[in-house]
This record gives sequence, C-alpha cells and structure tokens, in this order.
Amino acid sequence: MRSTSPLVVASLLGAANAGVPKTCSDYRIPISITSNNAVFGLRPFKSDFDVAEFVTTIASHTPEISSSVLSPFTVNATETFTISATFCRPGHEKPDPKRENTVLIATHGLNFDRTHPDADRICVNRYWDPQLDKETYSFVDYVLNEGYSIFYYDRLGVGESEQVSGYVAQLSNQVTILTELTKLIKGGHYVGGTGRPSKTVLVGHSFGSAISSEVVRQNKKLVDGVVLTGFSYNSTHLNGLEFLEAAGVRIAAQQQPGKWRQLDTGYLTTVDLFASVTTFFHDGYYDTEVARYVDDHKVPFAVTELLTGHSFAIQPIDFTGAVMILSGKYDFPFCMSDCDGVLGNPGASIFSKAKAFKAISLPGTGHGINYHTTANQSFEKVTSFLAANGL
Ligand SMILES: *[C@@H]1O[C@H](CO)[C@@H](O)[C@H](O)[C@H]1NC(C)=O
Ligand SMILES: *[C@@H]1O[C@H](CO)[C@@H](O)[C@H](O)[C@H]1NC(C)=O
Ligand SMILES: *[C@@H]1O[C@H](CO)[C@@H](O)[C@H](O)[C@H]1NC(C)=O
Repeated sequence: MRSTSPLVVASLLGAANAGVPKTCSDYRIPISITSNNAVFGLRPFKSDFDVAEFVTTIASHTPEISSSVLSPFTVNATETFTISATFCRPGHEKPDPKRENTVLIATHGLNFDRTHPDADRICVNRYWDPQLDKETYSFVDYVLNEGYSIFYYDRLGVGESEQVSGYVAQLSNQVTILTELTKLIKGGHYVGGTGRPSKTVLVGHSFGSAISSEVVRQNKKLVDGVVLTGFSYNSTHLNGLEFLEAAGVRIAAQQQPGKWRQLDTGYLTTVDLFASVTTFFHDGYYDTEVARYVDDHKVPFAVTELLTGHSFAIQPIDFTGAVMILSGKYDFPFCMSDCDGVLGNPGASIFSKAKAFKAISLPGTGHGINYHTTANQSFEKVTSFLAANGL
C-alpha cells in the first residue's frame, strides 16, 4: 500500500505539518522467527493491587524475594508475526544522491509507536515523526532532508504490528524480528522499489537501542553503523527499577478500556502525565503541550519487555562499523539524570573494534530526546557523524 500523499496529509493537518517532500510506502511484513524467550514465574495481574505488589517484590534487595517473581526459564518459540512498517525516501533531487542508498532502520522504545490503527490510516508516527512542528521534532523529515532513506516499524505488540500477550513480547523476540527485517531490507525488500541499499544503519531509542545493540552483537557483519539514542551501557547508573517506580505503572486495559480493552493485563502504562514527564522530559527544554501530546498518545508496553529491557549484554562487541551513543544529559532511566562521562564508559571499550565511536551527552535534554526543543540538534549530530564516516 501507498501512504496518503503528502498533499492530502498537509490539508488534513495544516500546512505547517506538510514536512519535507518524500515518497513513502507502508508495509505489512510477515516474519517467521525462532527466539529463545524467557518465561517468568509471574502470576498474571488481575488488578493494579497485583501490579503494586509486583513493583515492591522486584525491588526487594533480598534475592530470594525478587527471584520469586523473576526466576525465568527459557523456551525456544517459533512463530510468524506481521510487522507494520513504513519506508520513506527523499522526494526530490538531493545534493548527495548517494546517501539515498543508505537506509536507516529505526526502532522505537517503550511508551511509543510508529503509528496507530485508528489514526484514519494516516501514518501518525509517534516517535520518529510526531504530528508536531516537523522542523523541530521530526527525525524522519530531518534525515530525508539530509538525503537518507529511512525504514521504521511498530515493535511486536504495538501500533499496527501483530498484537501478542504482554507476558510474551520481550527483548529476544524483538531482536530476532529486527534481525530478520534488516536481512530483508538488505535483500532489497520493503524499500519502495529502490533496490538493495548500499549501506544500512540501525538507529534505536531506549529499549529500541537495547534491541539494536543485541542485533549488532549477534550479527557482527549485518549493518554498517549503529546509533543508540536514549541509552547507556554503564550499569552503575542504569535506573530500571526507579523507572518502574517513577512511571507508576498501571494495567493499561483497566486505565483506558476505550483504547486498550483488547490488551491483556501484561500491558502496562504510566499512571499520568506527570509520570510521563518524570521519566521522559527535562525542565526548561520542552513545551508542556508536547508533553501532553506524548501522554495523550502514550503506548502500553509489555511487562516482559520491562523485565528483559536491561538484559542486553554488556560485553565487548566485535563490530567494525561506526557507532554512536547519544543520550540526553538528564536521561533519568539510563543515567540517573546525568549522562556526562557515563556514555563512553564502558561504551568505548565495548566497541573498541569500531572504525569510529562517538558518545554524546546532549545538554538540556531528558530521556525522550525527540520531544525536546533540542531534538534537531541531536538529529544534526547523528547525520553529521554518519556523513563523516562515509554513511
Ligand atoms: C534453544 O535452542 C538453542 C540452539 O538454537 C539450544 O542451544 C537450546 O538448548 C534450546 N533451548 C531450549 C530450552 O530448548
Ligand atoms: C532546529 O529547528 C529550528 C526551527 O524550529 C531552526 O531554527 C534551527 O536552525 C534548527 N537547528 C538545526 C541544528 O537544524
Ligand atoms: C560508569 O561511569 C562512571 C563515570 O565515568 C565510572 O566511574 C564507572 O566506573 C562506570 N561504571 C561502569 C560499570 O563502567
């Protein structure tokens, strides 16, 4: 299918949102995977009382107590899922047409999506291309304007991708899905008829960076570059439990049955606007209307994604491409609100074989980078890093 033409979108959303010229295609992609999934010793939640108990139990510093919930065993699950995606390439002649054959493959994190089924079929991308002032907030428009092509998709269980249980979606199956998608793209599939890309780069945000990191660790020659945003390997300052507590997680289907009745109780969401602000924003560098947009369009995440979100390996990755880690200086979940000096330690030694490594702690910015007024500074740093490394 073709997405709505830029002209129609512009007339629906106002000229300010027309964005840069682009040619986009939407896809529904069947993916067959076998993944080694964790099955947690967790009784399905019936109500938020159970969720409250879950939070206090996993926060226990007594391992026997926290492991009563965690203690996963693993199964090899083989399944076929449908993943919804969009591919866009620049809509007009660019100064450097070679870049068009570099495809960025973007994976969003928890609380976000690519689009939503009830959005009148208009591709309302909630993380990489929000329906906000495009010049400030659209990563998609920024990279297209720089001449890149971009492929972005809804994670399994989210948006228009296949709905699965919130006790099943997790790091391992998301990693296998991204691996398969990347192989298909490299084979020239789902790229709007542009043929095999000359270069591919994984771009993640938060949990999407954890997924991208694992793909690169497990497939050292698959891509040419990786950009991990809203992310860090420094375990001293990883803030997973505090994230859970600050988010004030609630059962999504019970919080907003009108929107989420169809989700099982493994899908959780933030308690309110201010929980979203605590976890994603930094004061003085966001517009409160943008924070409301994020909260109004928030997307539930699987409890098993939360439980596996920090289980990416922190060990050397034998990858020879270009690597960037870019997080907001004030990132709460990954840096305990100060990323200075943290991102390259141990990031640089994990990627000691990389042809280039750059870590940036972006001033003024919190975890939800693309929703800060600094967003296009981060986009500029990403594309100039890629360009400097032949991507
Ligand atoms: C899953 O498959 C891997 C190899 O693909 C194997 O090493 C492992 O033992 C399997 N695990 C289970 C629980 O079957
Ligand atoms: C970011 O966007 C603003 C307009 O919203 C523009 O004035 C500024 O030059 C842009 N900065 C970069 C680095 O592209
Ligand atoms: C995290 O970063 C700090 C500051 O650079 C450093 O002292 C610490 O050793 C790092 N922790 C790990 C686990 O690498």
